[in-house]
Amino acid sequence: MLGADSMKDSRQGKCRIAVMVSGGGTNLQAVIDGVKDGTITNTEIAGVISNNKNAYALARAQENHIPSRCVSPKDYESRAVFNEKLMEAVDELAPDLVVLAGFLVVIPPEMIRKYRNRMINIHPSLIPSFCGTGYYGLKVHEAALARGVKLTGATVHFVDEGTDTGPIILQKAVEVQQGDTPEVLQRRVMEQAEWKILPRAIDLIANGKVTVQDNRTVIGG
Ligand code: GAR
Repeated sequence: MLGADSMKDSRQGKCRIAVMVSGGGTNLQAVIDGVKDGTITNTEIAGVISNNKNAYALARAQENHIPSRCVSPKDYESRAVFNEKLMEAVDELAPDLVVLAGFLVVIPPEMIRKYRNRMINIHPSLIPSFCGTGYYGLKVHEAALARGVKLTGATVHFVDEGTDTGPIILQKAVEVQQGDTPEVLQRRVMEQAEWKILPRAIDLIANGKVTVQDNRTVIGG
């Protein structure tokens, strides 16, 4: 159970977050901006880890003087070795909270165990719609448009052993509009939902306001 008491350092020191990215890093940017402008309190970004050396997110980290590194599966002989190196890189940052901000790699089971209720993910739909294996990035919005839903949105949740199945922390709905393309819808979901609820979830956790009970979260306190 995670609660106000168990969140390491949340009262004495800042909550150290490790942000994991694969691409453009607009969610990382929202977190950087939130820490700077005080929307996210009691938090410091300990480092950024990417699986993709060309991710623009790495440039965003560098521009903001945040330690960053790439751990790519392409540099290791097996998935097992990559998983080991990835976890080492995260552990080195000694994070209180791991933030998956568009990190499109399957998280090793040991890491899920170690960071249970201390690792969150942003997903670009209202879970349990359009989530699970194969639903990531633009594919989520393509599926939402193909189904003809009128409302979509984003979800921040804790990471457990399943794909997008962990306890839900925050959700925000966004309207689908006539004539939307997947790209247009993706951008609206980012602007109206993702960039708001990811910083908000980090702020809540960093201030000991999120508790997990029976695989559901309780917010407040
Ligand atoms: C975001 O839309 C995020 O929700 C999504 O990838 C995008 C990353 O954009 N994540 C997933 O689909 C995870 N299943 P960004 O790099 O600009 O933050």
